[in-house]
Amino acid sequence: MESIEVVRRAVAAARRAGGTIGLVPTMGALHDGHLRLIERCRAESDLVVVSIFVNPTQFGPSEDLERYPRTLAEDCARCDAAGAEVIFAPQVATIYPHGTGSTFVEVPGLSDVLEGASRPGHFRGVATVVLKLFAIVGPDRAYFGQKDYQQQVLIRRMVADLHVPVAITTVPTVREPDGLALSSRNRYLNPAQRRAATVLARALERAGQAVVQGERIGNRVRQILRETIESEPLARLDYAEVADAETLAPLDELGPQRPAVALVAAWVGSTRLIDNRLLG
Ligand code: PAF
Repeated sequence: MESIEVVRRAVAAARRAGGTIGLVPTMGALHDGHLRLIERCRAESDLVVVSIFVNPTQFGPSEDLERYPRTLAEDCARCDAAGAEVIFAPQVATIYPHGTGSTFVEVPGLSDVLEGASRPGHFRGVATVVLKLFAIVGPDRAYFGQKDYQQQVLIRRMVADLHVPVAITTVPTVREPDGLALSSRNRYLNPAQRRAATVLARALERAGQAVVQGERIGNRVRQILRETIESEPLARLDYAEVADAETLAPLDELGPQRPAVALVAAWVGSTRLIDNRLLG
């Protein structure tokens, strides 16, 4: 369905019947990672709403908005099979009635580091569209993948700061057998690039092992991440960071009181990939 009114009617009917509402926001091109979100939502909610919207405001001018995969018919079939009752696939003008330059949401401190530093404006677009989806659907719970680690941190902060009554659940990353994190952008990779792309997961694995074996110095863990990714000729490192898992502030030292996360981004050909791993 494309219309806000129709979605709201379905939500209101479920609420009248005493049901809870779960929302899985997506940009379509659904893979097993998305299905895991829908399944979790299905297990915890009476009405499952999946939004499918390629949000133009989270793409930079030189990014892949035009070529981003659009597979609505297959996506709807997968949502149906996974038990979603409502698929909200709006037009751009429905979400942005006064154009994409109108009201927006910014989450300072979280929107301009890491992904935000490499993709200026990206998180303003994400926060804005997610808040709009929350306002349209009014879910009790919403589900996001750990693969986009910074995104879920930022959304948690946004709902806390703006007192949005929605519980955010983060679902673990789904990986291919060789470790590559599932992503709608993996389909851009040719076979050689696809093999090279596993270097992100390998770097995180090595860093994780080093921490398990007692490494506590942030810079040494960063070095492991960097060296591993730079050893792959088809990959070009964007960033490798070790940060506080909640604030995303870079960590000099890891310790038991401070949950930490390693985050990496790299180009493989013209495809930009990200991945992360909780440490310790
Ligand atoms: O993670 C995504 O697919 C998108 O960033 C989201 C949350 C659906 C907002 O457009």
